[in-house]
Amino acid sequence: MHNVVILPALGDNYIYLYRYDGQRVFVVDPGDAGVVLENLQKHALDLTHVLITHSHGDHSAGAKKLKAETGATIFSPDSSAIRETDCDITDGQTLALPGSPVVVIGTPGHTSSAVCYYVPAGLDRPQPLLFTGDTMFIGGCGRIIGATARDFFDSLCRLKKLPDETLVFPGHDYTVENYEFALQVEPGSKVHEKRLAELRKISKQADMVPSSIGREKRENLFMQAGSAEEFAELRRKKDIFG
Ligand SMILES: [Fe+2]
Repeated sequence: MHNVVILPALGDNYIYLYRYDGQRVFVVDPGDAGVVLENLQKHALDLTHVLITHSHGDHSAGAKKLKAETGATIFSPDSSAIRETDCDITDGQTLALPGSPVVVIGTPGHTSSAVCYYVPAGLDRPQPLLFTGDTMFIGGCGRIIGATARDFFDSLCRLKKLPDETLVFPGHDYTVENYEFALQVEPGSKVHEKRLAELRKISKQADMVPSSIGREKRENLFMQAGSAEEFAELRRKKDIFG
């Protein structure tokens, strides 16, 4: 059970609305303002905060319009790239949002200043939540852009330390492709074969999410890499795979 509304956008992005305090929400990674505004209107929701994981446009381009239309406060790790940022956030900070504290986990790797947002368990959410942007996908991870494989490996190690029951909300839906890649790396794996068969039965895109830290530790090859070198080699193979 969770309070997160999943909004597929821009083809394969996910935008998330976290509903707290009745009709108030914060949004994570609004690459498209239109999708968000439509949902706010439809359900009479009040947007109070915008949380951005990294500067890429498909995660942040809607921030300007959302701020203009709703007056929401914008948090991001990169105010030089995202001009609408009200609060520059960094690793270890706890954002005292009404309804729930949100912990910023610095996870450089996909970009040098990428972060994940962690919402600890609370009264209205029995399991913690993690919004990962392009740091971790279900069964995969983002490309290395402007950081090093060591940075990325260290960031995934930090995520592994979160409670297994933490629900994972990634920035994209590359799930099927990631499990196809995993099966290529580990041919004949019953785990990957079984999961692919399950995934192929899912017709609604949003039903792919969430995953959990426990599942990612068991099934995500990038989370299982034993060293930065092993991670880098896996990432190179995935870049070629697609
Ligand atoms: Fe990205």
